[in-house]
Amino acid sequence: MDAYLLKKDFPVLDDKTLVYLDTAASSLKPKQVIKKLDEYYEKYSVNVHRGVYSLSYVATQLYEESRRKVSEFINADFDEIIFTRGASSALNLVATSYGLNNLTSEDEIIVSELEHHSQVLPWQNVSNITKAKLIYVPLNKEGRITVENFKKVLNKKTKVVALNYVSNVMGYVSPIKEIIRLSHEVGAVVSVDAAQAAPHMRIDVKDLDCDFLAFSGHKMLGPTGIGVMFGKKELLKDMPPIEFGGDMNDNVNLYDASWKDSPYKFETGTPPIAGAIGLGAAIDYLNNLGFENISTHEKKLKDYAVEKLLKIEDIIVYNKTSETGIITFNIAGVHPHDAVTFFDGDNICMRAGHHCAQLIIKWLEVVATLRVSFYLYNTIEDCDKFIESVKNARDFFKSVGF
Ligand SMILES: Cc1ncc(COP(=O)(O)O)c(C=O)c1O
Repeated sequence: MDAYLLKKDFPVLDDKTLVYLDTAASSLKPKQVIKKLDEYYEKYSVNVHRGVYSLSYVATQLYEESRRKVSEFINADFDEIIFTRGASSALNLVATSYGLNNLTSEDEIIVSELEHHSQVLPWQNVSNITKAKLIYVPLNKEGRITVENFKKVLNKKTKVVALNYVSNVMGYVSPIKEIIRLSHEVGAVVSVDAAQAAPHMRIDVKDLDCDFLAFSGHKMLGPTGIGVMFGKKELLKDMPPIEFGGDMNDNVNLYDASWKDSPYKFETGTPPIAGAIGLGAAIDYLNNLGFENISTHEKKLKDYAVEKLLKIEDIIVYNKTSETGIITFNIAGVHPHDAVTFFDGDNICMRAGHHCAQLIIKWLEVVATLRVSFYLYNTIEDCDKFIESVKNARDFFKSVGF
């Protein structure tokens, strides 16, 4: 995999001075995906499932073809794939539809301080309404979720386990397969936040045996406004829709109505048609490259950058041992927002803040961090520019008395 060649596929990178290190927030989009979106808007930009004319038939076929691609991408069945607005909507759908209808004050929900707000807040809401107890897995001293600590909180009262596959702050890969196996032993269902996993590693929902899994298109080369919720058929069957309107219904009477089968009962109104078609093109792109190549490349860049970072005075790296392409760090005494403004001056895009994961930022006992996230279009040259900029930022802030 030649990242220098791949850069040519990404029009934003036509600016050769730009160093994009914020893929964990959103990835750049390749020409192949943009072309598919253009094609939809230029050639058959009509609604799906409704029109009894050829154009609508074409749009419907392409929309459903993307559902097939997504299902193969994670080894799910076709009707287990629900298109949503993003990972957040998907995780909310699980909590609202499954959580609110299956939990009581006798039950427990396991989450962690390593979660994105989109995974923990929907379950806080379920807990507030149903009075089911929210239980946090204690993190180990590196800030990881471990099987050992998970066993300490799992018990017969556990009805839902809602954890991430890969943390968006620490980049750690959770031991999710073993967590799922143990959860099933006590009869709990597991909802996996795979927003930071799907862009970087092969996911097999049958092998994991997870009950629900969510991710977003825009973090994996696809368009914004499209996400995926996977749910096991047998669970989706009994789950009620959480939004009501066009296309999700079967028969409508004056005072009641019936719903279509899954996935359609969860896809109310005009769905994100272009988004789904674009996501299909993104999946083709990733499949062509192969996840083995992508993750090896990201890890190489991350290890290279961490080694160089640690040689710079006043740099604190919080996740040295992470398995993926995310580095979370600070320059001692410098607020991350000041640092990131300095990096922007060098045309380097990086994230600073709490990364929509305030619990782990509090756990780290800092106000915010800097975050670098590598992807397939990043190169060693990007790393070198980034390291140079960090050195200059550190020297500049020290010189002005930070
Ligand atoms: C781990 C994780 N979960 C969920 C989300 C939410 O994704 P979206 O904003 O696309 O809904 C993100 C986004 O940063 C994330 O990193």
